[in-house]
Amino acid sequence: MISKTTLFSIFAAGVSAQQVGTLTTETHPALPIQSCSAAGTCSSLSTSVTLDANWRWLHSTSSSTNCYTGNAFDATYCPDGATCASNCALDGADYPGTYGVTAAGNALTLKFVTNGPYSKNIGSRTYLMASDSKYQMFKLLNKEFSFDVDVSNLPCGLNGALYLIEMDEDGGTGRFPTNKAGAKYGTGYCDTQCPHDIKFINGEANVDGWTGSPTDVNSGTGKYGSCCHEMDLWEANSISAAYTPHVCSVDGQVRCEGTDCGDGDLRYSGICDKDGCDFNSYRMGNKTFYGPGLTVDTKKKFTVVTQFVTSTGTDSGTLSEIRRLYVQDGVVIQNSVSEIPGVTESSSISDDFCTEQKTVFNDNNQFSKLGGLAAMGGAIGRGMVLALSVWDDHSANMLWLDSTYPTTASSDTLGAARGTCATTSGDPADVEANSPDSSVIYSNIKFGAIGSTYSTTG
Ligand SMILES: *[C@@H]1O[C@H](CO)[C@@H](O)[C@H](O)[C@H]1NC(C)=O
Repeated sequence: MISKTTLFSIFAAGVSAQQVGTLTTETHPALPIQSCSAAGTCSSLSTSVTLDANWRWLHSTSSSTNCYTGNAFDATYCPDGATCASNCALDGADYPGTYGVTAAGNALTLKFVTNGPYSKNIGSRTYLMASDSKYQMFKLLNKEFSFDVDVSNLPCGLNGALYLIEMDEDGGTGRFPTNKAGAKYGTGYCDTQCPHDIKFINGEANVDGWTGSPTDVNSGTGKYGSCCHEMDLWEANSISAAYTPHVCSVDGQVRCEGTDCGDGDLRYSGICDKDGCDFNSYRMGNKTFYGPGLTVDTKKKFTVVTQFVTSTGTDSGTLSEIRRLYVQDGVVIQNSVSEIPGVTESSSISDDFCTEQKTVFNDNNQFSKLGGLAAMGGAIGRGMVLALSVWDDHSANMLWLDSTYPTTASSDTLGAARGTCATTSGDPADVEANSPDSSVIYSNIKFGAIGSTYSTTG
């Protein structure tokens, strides 16, 4: 995303490292989190964040010449995926200056549009690191995860997402030795959309068939996608919020091609469940629960708690329920209950909830077909990486989160109304032009025994 520059050329002679650029020193912003015990005592972990590789400057290993500019790979350095991986280096990031990513204390702020010295950056995706070269792995069966979030500066069309994906702990260097950059440089991304816009997958550049996006000057798509289980703890703006398990028929990060990626009309033929089983309070019929001035008041910070309950009440049980509660101004707010006729009045996600909701909303239940909560629990038990991001949506303007979607549905069609944003809102060109200074703040991340990460007093 950074355009060509000559500023760093004096360093070029010193760049002998394969596929790791050294023109900008990579220093991960510190983001300490807490691990809490059943007794309620919490200890601090010295974690930090790294920026996803896709956002980074990719240049020749021997100079500052770009290997990728705008939405195209350089044909000389990148005639094919393997050659590109050996010719090109991912460089360190200027987090605040180029990407609008700032950490202070236990808080991380992600700014939407950043006009840096070399480029205009849109959104970001970061991952929590346990060490300089390894992601923090979360194993949350029979545990809970909590964080504070400030969405007051996230309008319609934006999504501040905090979620878990089953990436490799080392970013893929162990399984794919041609990847020398690894977790330190944010490699190895995957999710249940099996995204094709990832520049390097399985140690090779995704140059085969790479086509620039018609609407996004910084993005393109290649032949391969990168798939894995995904647990969306939080996808939200100031108007709507959802939490959503999504599963795949495969475990770990898997490169897909063809039908397996589930593109377009083949959405329900792929190896991952792109829809997931979401709980969005507005969509589930409570239109006064979440939003500015509402029960969960998005004009100010609040705590989001997600609990992974197992069938046995032990860490070795099968995931049976995903519960949600909020804490704001010291008061615990139980999640809203479903008000949808035909869906049991539940406030949490279970396989029964998913089946009833998909039936009533007339949605395809690929979540259940690919294994439902038991499959989600498999990934949550093996360990997942935490992603913190802010993004806009070039494929559906985020209307699936915060508006009426499909837009042709009447807003009283069950399942179509997801929030109060206009069906004309969320066009990336509009939000980038009109709300560039939007941002999200994540803070106070904790995990541990159920009930251990938040206070019920006050
Ligand atoms: C929405 O949730 C709030 C808080 O739980 C509750 O007081 C209210 O009655 C709910 N509204 C509807 C329509 O269910």
